[in-house]
Amino acid sequence: MKKRKVDISKYFMPDLNKARKRIQESQVLKDVFYIPENIQNIGIGKTFHVRTYGCQSNLRDSENIMGILKALGYKYNDDIYTSDFVILNTCAIRENAENKVFGEIGFLKQLKVKNNNFIFGIAGCMAQEENIVDIILKKYHHVDFIMGTHNIHRLPQIIEQVIFEKDTVVDVWSKEGDVIENLPSNRVSNVKASVNVMFGCDKFCTYCIVPFTRGKIRSRKKEDIINEVNDLIKNNFKEVFLIGQNVNSYGIDFKDEKYSFANLLEDVAKTNIARVRFTTSNPWNFSEEIIQVMSKYKNIMPHVHLPIQSGDDDILKRMNRHMYIKDYLKIIYKIRELIPNCTISTDLIIGFPNETKEQFQKTLDLYNEVKFDHAYTYIYSKRDGTVAAKMEDNIPMEEKRSRLQELNLLVEKYSKEKNLSFVGKILNVLVEGKSKTNENLLFGYSEEMKVVNFEGEAKDGDIVEVRITGSSKFSLSGQKI
Ligand code: SAH
Ligand code: SF4
Ligand code: F3S
Repeated sequence: MKKRKVDISKYFMPDLNKARKRIQESQVLKDVFYIPENIQNIGIGKTFHVRTYGCQSNLRDSENIMGILKALGYKYNDDIYTSDFVILNTCAIRENAENKVFGEIGFLKQLKVKNNNFIFGIAGCMAQEENIVDIILKKYHHVDFIMGTHNIHRLPQIIEQVIFEKDTVVDVWSKEGDVIENLPSNRVSNVKASVNVMFGCDKFCTYCIVPFTRGKIRSRKKEDIINEVNDLIKNNFKEVFLIGQNVNSYGIDFKDEKYSFANLLEDVAKTNIARVRFTTSNPWNFSEEIIQVMSKYKNIMPHVHLPIQSGDDDILKRMNRHMYIKDYLKIIYKIRELIPNCTISTDLIIGFPNETKEQFQKTLDLYNEVKFDHAYTYIYSKRDGTVAAKMEDNIPMEEKRSRLQELNLLVEKYSKEKNLSFVGKILNVLVEGKSKTNENLLFGYSEEMKVVNFEGEAKDGDIVEVRITGSSKFSLSGQKI
């Protein structure tokens, strides 16, 4: 195992304060990716594994990371423990997400002991946090490189440095980031594909680390997005998932043209791809126009993920969400008026600093009012560098846990009820393969974003009609017609 000396003062460390500033213009860069001659084919005969934590943006980044490693000759290995090259693509959204990664970093030290040529890298949002990089450099000497979220295209250069120099390589940029096009990509599905529409986030919700780790908002050019969708259609993909931290802010950074997410959604629907979905939508910019476009095109799926975070106006104000519950409800009612079969899910944070019992009750009230199909619920996690991290918080963790439990019971109750209401109906399902719970069944998602396990014959990528005969809080079951 290589011994490394760590002299932190020499590193250009990530800097959350710098990351907060948004000064420079972002550019669209189409030809910055290249493979240095001396590492072409460096991976031939070797294998890699990329483990991904966090959101859709990270999953898509991992597809690019895997594409780059394949371009260097490495082969994918499903088993992390026998791989010659491992990257953990990390998430910084909550402390428990970070703890999981630290556990894994420690555990993977054994691979370095077993294999002298083993290469181990940390990528993703944790790499953008200065305190995390500091801990890794001081405590985890078996990490070969730390790469941020803005410079994935530099992975070949980073590998070159790892191989030819002895020190841990830290390549993290705390600037605003650009839009990098034309990276290699190794898509994880042949049926559905994520397509980035924008990067970064400028909303600065007071609890959230994303605007620091992902930089300022940068929208991809519509032509590049539409070309990517057309290529996917040519390659037989059936569904595109338009992704970004807040897709409905798409286009607000364009200087010379007015082109919104509603316009983009319509143009993507017009490509005639079988299915279009999108995520995530901060309700702040969720325009009625988006709902109208959704209702106009059959290939835009009737499902909206619309995170509200809390049912209390005062908490929303302290979260900097720019949203009142009455306005959120107006959006919900509009969706239900124009798209009656639309399913709706949300995210909720419990135990924001000094959330009172009454304020928590308002979250339950909102839930009972909207009766969401599903919700992702989280206990508030303090993130260094954010505004909320400085807020006083006198609510004991035990109280927060019991509130979360209470809320989760409600979430389950409505998930069950909603799913039960599909029994007897016929749903269109995009087939993705064998069911994860029973290999005699196939599985796929319905238009409404419900997991459907079903009996019958079909190929991956087929869209089939399934009569729903059973339901649970997680999924539906049925028979192909
Ligand atoms: N851009 C999306 C959310 C992305 S993060 C939006 O604004 O809607 C996904 C979810 O993680 C958030 O909706 C929020 O519910 C949760 N989350 C973010 N920061 C958190 C924190 N510090 N503690 C707990 N949950 C958090
Ligand atoms: Fe975070 Fe808010 Fe941006 Fe969503 S909109 S990524 S919660 S800052
Ligand atoms: Fe996590 Fe970064 Fe996504 S913090 S949720 S991986 S943008």
